[in-house]
Amino acid sequence: MSSEKEIVLSGIRATGNLHLGNYYGALSKFVKMQDDYDCLYFIADLHALTTNPQPEALHENVRNILAEYLAAGVDPDKATIFVQSDVPEVSEMYLLLNMHVGIGELLRTASFKDKARKQLGIKDDSQDIERQIIGNETNKRVNAGLLTYPTLMAVDILIQKAHKVPVGKDQEQHLELTRRFARRFNSFYGVDLFPEPENFNFGDHAVKVPGLDGSGKMGKSEGNCIYLVDDEKVLRKKVMRAVTDEGPKEPNQPISQPVENLLTLMELTTAPEIVQSYRDAYADCSIRYGDLKKQLAEDILKVTTPIRERYHDIRNDDAYIARVVRQGAEKARERAAATLKEVREVMGIRKFY
Ligand code: ADP
Ligand code: TRP
Repeated sequence: MSSEKEIVLSGIRATGNLHLGNYYGALSKFVKMQDDYDCLYFIADLHALTTNPQPEALHENVRNILAEYLAAGVDPDKATIFVQSDVPEVSEMYLLLNMHVGIGELLRTASFKDKARKQLGIKDDSQDIERQIIGNETNKRVNAGLLTYPTLMAVDILIQKAHKVPVGKDQEQHLELTRRFARRFNSFYGVDLFPEPENFNFGDHAVKVPGLDGSGKMGKSEGNCIYLVDDEKVLRKKVMRAVTDEGPKEPNQPISQPVENLLTLMELTTAPEIVQSYRDAYADCSIRYGDLKKQLAEDILKVTTPIRERYHDIRNDDAYIARVVRQGAEKARERAAATLKEVREVMGIRKFY
């Protein structure tokens, strides 16, 4: 790995198995980027703590995601693969960076509002969430770690001085905050320590993979996912049950959201001319959703089957996993320690002995 290459960093929270949204939004980009950039990929176990998982489940989820990275083709000889908590420098810099982060800007972050609402059990998103949190009108609490989630994410990125951060569309606000914190730190101390990182996509825009339920994005907590490790039977069943509509009533009517979602999924997995043939069939009212779904399931399986097969072998190979993350942690720590040293120096934390 030459240091002339641009630095790429990304992570995924250890909260379960990976789905097609994670794959197209993040993991497939990890694999494609590893030949051309100096890449670091990690499992965000500290971020997973913001939703208070059971300890055993957390540990198993870290293992699952590691095995999924490796099974999908992230190569430990090309990229640095590590576990976030193996780099304690991150936790120290998180404390330091928080001194330059406003509570207001954290409270306004969309992902915070969403998750805080969930922790408080508020369904109605028109309610003023800040008042509910401060007013403590219920005996439920929103933990401070959730509020400072963007600080921790910014530190993951800045401590490695990353230039590019391959993530899905939903993470763009966090990246915007990271850039803001980097600029703020650089200008407050009159230094040029941190580059401003940007998202990375192979197309021209960030991907948002839709779910199978006809509504929004595919997400772990939405229950609308196709997992990379779903077996053939489960996967086919999920696709066959995906929400559609009653069929086009007249030629050239606009495509309904649920069907557009399936076509969007198809665009990720299927040859463009086949996707176009289904669009044309919608337009002339000859579309058969059963055929579309069969085709879609086949094409998704072509992507996921090899990953699933490798996953099970890797997941059970404790020695291999240990070797990969030990080697990754060493590299990630070396760079993190160098940045932390600069940050402490710049902020005036200097030793007397
Ligand atoms: P989830 O939303 O299922 O909890 P995470 O928040 O852990 O998933 O996301 C991990 C990575 O996968 C991030 O880079 C995120 O942007 C990406 N990602 C998650 N869901 C999608 C989706 N539906 N479309 C595109 N990218 C996604
Ligand atoms: N917040 C990201 C997510 O939910 C995970 C993450 C944590 C991350 N730290 C990061 C992604 C640093 C990219 C870079 O998916």
